[in-house]
Amino acid sequence: MTPALTVYLFLASGCPLSNRYLPEISEIQSRYQPRGVRFERPSDPASARKLGARVTPQTVVTDALGRVVYRGRIDDRGAAPGIARPPTRHDLREALDALLDGRPVPAPETPVVGCAITFPAPERKGAITFSEQVAAVLFERCASCHRPGGSGPFSVTSYSEAAPRAAAIAQAARSRRMPPWKAEPGPHPFLGENRLDEAAIRLLEAWAADGAREGDPARTPPLPKFADGWELGPPDMVVRAPKPVRIPSASPDQYTCLAIPISTPRVRYVRAFEFRPGNRPATHHALIFVDSRRIARRAGDTYPCFGTPGFLPTAALGGWTPGFGASVYPAGTAVSIRPGADLVLQLHLRASGREETAQPEIALYFTEEAPRRRMVDIALGSRRIDIAPGKRRYVVRDSFTLPVAVEITGIIPHAHYVCREMRGRAVMPSGRVVDLLTIRDWDFDWQRHYRYRDTFVLPAGTRLEMEFVYDNSAANPRNPSRPPRRVVWGPESSDEMAGLHVQAMPVRNEDAEELGQYLWGKLMRETGRGGR
Ligand code: HEC
Repeated sequence: MTPALTVYLFLASGCPLSNRYLPEISEIQSRYQPRGVRFERPSDPASARKLGARVTPQTVVTDALGRVVYRGRIDDRGAAPGIARPPTRHDLREALDALLDGRPVPAPETPVVGCAITFPAPERKGAITFSEQVAAVLFERCASCHRPGGSGPFSVTSYSEAAPRAAAIAQAARSRRMPPWKAEPGPHPFLGENRLDEAAIRLLEAWAADGAREGDPARTPPLPKFADGWELGPPDMVVRAPKPVRIPSASPDQYTCLAIPISTPRVRYVRAFEFRPGNRPATHHALIFVDSRRIARRAGDTYPCFGTPGFLPTAALGGWTPGFGASVYPAGTAVSIRPGADLVLQLHLRASGREETAQPEIALYFTEEAPRRRMVDIALGSRRIDIAPGKRRYVVRDSFTLPVAVEITGIIPHAHYVCREMRGRAVMPSGRVVDLLTIRDWDFDWQRHYRYRDTFVLPAGTRLEMEFVYDNSAANPRNPSRPPRRVVWGPESSDEMAGLHVQAMPVRNEDAEELGQYLWGKLMRETGRGGR
């Protein structure tokens, strides 16, 4: 018997949004298969072209006569290729229910968000090819993550793996989702800056449009060397999560903290560290704290912790995001670890659609040199955040005038999902303005510690300024609430924060006390008596 309905599912394993649909797809299949619906997963571009599919994940439903009766999304959770929200409409289920019931389909054609499908193109002289032009860009800019065992969802280190994703690659590059580097170029370059210029984006687009050809394999440039072992050589100590951390398949995002005991008979000075997530694809970011008083471990083997680690850390070792290697502290600023201290990890984990685990490791490199320079966190920001639902442009500003000269080493921006733009700048006593950080498309998922390639000095009397812009309307694809609701300061993912942490060392060590007092005064004025 011919099935009444056939559902064609266009999926791609290299497309995170497509992978996130796997649990929903298996539910739909087990619900509608018994009712005579057939499911197919064509993987060739010819079927996609014939049925009018352009991205993954997309579905096309045909009736017994092979006529297209529904074409579009599974549901409306996709806001952009990397962004999923709780769905409010289940278009595929609604279409199937209607068809099985003999009713007209409510919306026979729905818009789809996803990763572009690569289609073949006719032979053309002078076409852009992988070997001759494209591999150089992909190897240099993408392969640090997109390689076997890397954090990216597919590899670009060979033609056969990169070519089927050519259109998705061009799309991600054009929208600047990839590479995931959010800071705009400024007067003080950052370590590890990775942005594509317009010429490279055009090249990737032209390659996809030309049908993603290989060219002469002999002309493929050599792959860069990726460190297999620890980047800085054998560590002095490696600590490991005592147990593997569970990542349930049902939770798309999970914020988990855990304590890792360190056994050291004397005070240790850490000059560098390297974090290994244990499960790269599932780990979105990690923050590492020192807990001398062993408070965190009282909360159990692991505990949920969005935003803050849930206790006041003795020190922060640093952060990790995909593509991050070893971190070396500026000379003279080692982090002290006392005997009996724990390291506490805050992990942002993301399930792939199936149950997984991660058992992170941290390599520590010690020095005999006690810290002789004082690193100070100059925190700009505000806790007075109250954004009405639908508000498109809500601005948080703060400033702090330096009482002493400082050497700037880095900057750490922090906000949640409603924040869109960030600006940090320094106004010198002369009035000259120096940009510290500009982000036009803030993405919580790609927050990081930005370290300046070269440190620089700001004189006493310099005013540090920050300005964050929030969009609490439905037009912000990352807004976690549908429909938007009032957003106030708080640690939950649906709350907001505003923090710009300028990492600085007083030029004269003895100035650290004075700087600390000014910062304390600032905090007291802001939080009043209720401040923690
Ligand atoms: C710092 C690591 C890193 C670098 C560098 C990087 N990627 Fe990615 N990429 C990822 C991760 C992680 C994901 C999965 C994101 C998710 O799960 O939402 C991803 C997803 C993607 C996707 C699929 C999702 C989408 O947004 O379309 C494409 C295509 C992609 N990357 C292309 C590229 C290209 C092209 C480059 C280089 C120009 C690049 N990436 C550089 C880590 C990286």
